[in-house]
Amino acid sequence: INKIKFSLDDAENPPPFLGCFRDVFVGSHLVLPVAAPGDSDAQANITVGCSDKDKCDESPCQNRGRCVSQGWRSYMCECLRPYEGHNCSEEYITARFGNKDLDSFASFSLDDDPGDSMTVSMFIRTRQSSGLLLILANSTSQYLRLWVDEGRVKVQVNNFETLLGRSSISDGHFHLVTVKLEKMEAVLFQSAQIQDSVHIRPVHAHPGDLVFVGGLPDSRASASFGGYFKGCVQDLRVNSKRLQFYPIATPVESYRLQQLINIAQGCSSDNACAVNPCLNGGVCYSMWDDFICNCPPNTAGRRCEKVKWCELSPCPATAVCQPRSQGFDCLSNLTFRAESSILHYQSNGKIKRSLSSVSLSFRTRQNAATLLRAEKHSDYLTISVLDSKVVMELQANNSTRVIVQSQGPINDGEWHSVELSMENQILQTSRWIMVLDGDKEELSVSKAAARNLDFLKEGADIFLGGHNLEAGVNMSGCLGPVEIGGFSLPFHLDTEMNFPRPQEEQFARVNGNAALQYGCWGSSVCAPNPCTNQGVCEDLFDLHHCKCPSEWKGPLCQDPTDTCISSPCIYGNCTNQQGGFKCVCELGYSGDLCEMEVDMCQKSNCGEGATCIKGFQSYGCLCPQNKTGQHCELPQLPTSTCVGMRRNYNCYNGGNCSEAGGSCYCLPGFTGLW
Ligand SMILES: *[C@@H]1O[C@H](CO)[C@@H](O)[C@H](O)[C@H]1NC(C)=O
Ligand SMILES: *[C@@H]1O[C@H](CO)[C@@H](O)[C@H](O)[C@H]1NC(C)=O
Ligand SMILES: *[C@@H]1O[C@H](CO)[C@@H](O)[C@H](O)[C@H]1NC(C)=O
Ligand SMILES: *[C@@H]1O[C@H](CO)[C@@H](O)[C@H](O)[C@H]1NC(C)=O
Ligand SMILES: *[C@@H]1O[C@H](CO)[C@@H](O)[C@H](O)[C@H]1NC(C)=O
Ligand SMILES: *[C@@H]1O[C@H](CO)[C@@H](O)[C@H](O)[C@H]1NC(C)=O
Ligand SMILES: *[C@@H]1O[C@H](CO)[C@@H](O)[C@H](O)[C@H]1NC(C)=O
Ligand SMILES: *[C@@H]1O[C@H](CO)[C@@H](O)[C@H](O)[C@H]1NC(C)=O
Ligand SMILES: *[C@@H]1O[C@H](CO)[C@@H](O)[C@H](O)[C@H]1NC(C)=O
Ligand SMILES: *[C@@H]1O[C@H](CO)[C@@H](O)[C@H](O)[C@H]1NC(C)=O
Repeated sequence: INKIKFSLDDAENPPPFLGCFRDVFVGSHLVLPVAAPGDSDAQANITVGCSDKDKCDESPCQNRGRCVSQGWRSYMCECLRPYEGHNCSEEYITARFGNKDLDSFASFSLDDDPGDSMTVSMFIRTRQSSGLLLILANSTSQYLRLWVDEGRVKVQVNNFETLLGRSSISDGHFHLVTVKLEKMEAVLFQSAQIQDSVHIRPVHAHPGDLVFVGGLPDSRASASFGGYFKGCVQDLRVNSKRLQFYPIATPVESYRLQQLINIAQGCSSDNACAVNPCLNGGVCYSMWDDFICNCPPNTAGRRCEKVKWCELSPCPATAVCQPRSQGFDCLSNLTFRAESSILHYQSNGKIKRSLSSVSLSFRTRQNAATLLRAEKHSDYLTISVLDSKVVMELQANNSTRVIVQSQGPINDGEWHSVELSMENQILQTSRWIMVLDGDKEELSVSKAAARNLDFLKEGADIFLGGHNLEAGVNMSGCLGPVEIGGFSLPFHLDTEMNFPRPQEEQFARVNGNAALQYGCWGSSVCAPNPCTNQGVCEDLFDLHHCKCPSEWKGPLCQDPTDTCISSPCIYGNCTNQQGGFKCVCELGYSGDLCEMEVDMCQKSNCGEGATCIKGFQSYGCLCPQNKTGQHCELPQLPTSTCVGMRRNYNCYNGGNCSEAGGSCYCLPGFTGLW
């Protein structure tokens, strides 16, 4: 044998051998491949050596494609989506929908029968929380719909069964969305993770059915699915067949593109910074279909729209800065004296909101005073103190006058807050409610209904602390912050602030002449001291109180105190004296209040050996045997027994028997028959 043929019979058609031979012996002869002259078929495609390697060792597959070697000479790449091509180096061309906010959509026609089960899949990228993704329709029915709703993918099959994605996809990143329609079941995946499934009636697509992407030709029909899609779509497939907006170089099986309206190639971003979205000097940085504002200090918010005005210290030292939604207010308390001037306000004519509330706080001891008065033609609003109560009187737009009145007295010199509001702010007219000191339990309600305070929005005059009508009484006391419809009536002029208030809608002070007294100061009721007789003056806000020494009394300590008024002496007479009272006790009593009975025996005159016996205001002496007398001061004299004519008798105290009988001779100091 001098010829080896490596090709075998074509009929059986196995592939030619691919590999190396060595040490081929025929018999004991080493057979070497040598050129056989004249026979070109004798050797073909053989080289000396054995240098072939696995092609996959060179990692030819790009974009993380998986290499599958096919013999030594070739390989195949299994590409990850959205890559394609022999080496996975080609990427499906992204279609940009809604560029510059244009309405855009594409349509394809199915030119074969996709069969009973169908898988629709695509990459989408958007920042919009709504928009139409895809619709599969035949001439009578849209049997598959995909759209974004509140950031999540929603799928509707046969106009009925619905699937909902679990997480939002409107974050500006690409998401692979897959809908599998089996015979009886529809399943939604996001990045290979199952989101939702539902039982369905079978869906059958037919050749000629249309696939709409990003919207429908009819913009109203699109609107019911969130409007036209704004974002990017890449690598759209129905089953394994591609729906290419812009074909790639690698030939792939694709459905036919029919329409491509306002769609751009790639996934460029709208220049969101072009319209200068950042306010207050914020610097705009573009992101895909979005922007970020780098805000200067003292501002915040997505568009730096929130200025922290108060950090810029706009208010005078007498006020406290209060941030508002679009600016700030300088809040303070203000002292009004009946003779001092009244504050006058007008709206700047730009107030849009309805005015249906008033709030203020005050402190006074007057039983009649005007707190607030607003008027325009025949319309007016008055909030005043009348008969020690807060009263609101309102006549708006020529409707009937309504009155609300607080319940208890409020002129006690303490702070009180008043909140007035319409019971129902939606109705044209409604009753007005007054809440005093935040006590919602004890609110007062007007009997009649009235309109809101919109007449104050334009050309009305508002006064605080009094008004020019004869009936009004200027206020004496303090006002805290006052608001109408949530808009402050500032106590400071714009010119007194470091910069004017930026809020568009505002009430502003009109007069600027008065030197106001900021803070709350009562009138000087203790200087000079009104209390006499060393009384100490206490300042109770517009009211003094004298603390008198004990011997003085009365509002100014002008009256001496009657210290005996309480009859302090029990057994004795009371007399007023400097520093208190003195008791003159009745006989037999002693102590400061004559409360103690005196012990008469303590100073008794009973003689030696006698026993003192206590009695009421007196005492007696009990004498020993050989003593006698009132105080036992006398010696007891002997008793003699005398013999009388008819019978014997006794003579006492040393008396002698008389011869005459029947009587005694007495010693000096004694008398009597015996
Ligand atoms: C050698 O290989 C080439 C390329 O695979 C092929 O076209 C050619 O027919 C081969 N030659 C023979 C003689 O088989
Ligand atoms: C695939 O890669 C190989 C080597 O890495 C290169 O020679 C070949 O041209 C590439 N093919 C395509 C279609 O890009
Ligand atoms: C359109 O599709 C629906 C749902 O799959 C089907 O019931 C209807 O018969 C189809 N109509 C046509 C004309 O193919
Ligand atoms: C106004 O007075 C009240 C009560 O004394 C006080 O709590 C409040 O802080 C004062 N307001 C201002 C802005 O000074
Ligand atoms: C109230 O104040 C106004 C304005 O200062 C003044 O003209 C008027 O005399 C005052 N009224 C009374 C009763 O003090
Ligand atoms: C005033 O009332 C009339 C009808 O009574 C109404 O048409 C008009 O809009 C009202 N104006 C305001 C400012 O409420
Ligand atoms: C209220 O009535 C007066 C007099 O009839 C009229 O001049 C005024 O314009 C009316 N005001 C409103 C708000 O209707
Ligand atoms: C107390 O006063 C009464 C009436 O003035 C008088 O009669 C009496 O003697 C007084 N008693 C004493 C202890 O001074
Ligand atoms: C009186 O009696 C006392 C004791 O009973 C006695 O000590 C005293 O001497 C007597 N005095 C006279 C004067 O008899
Ligand atoms: C009492 O009698 C005594 C002695 O018998 C006598 O000395 C004395 O004088 C008499 N006294 C009188 C008053 O009779």
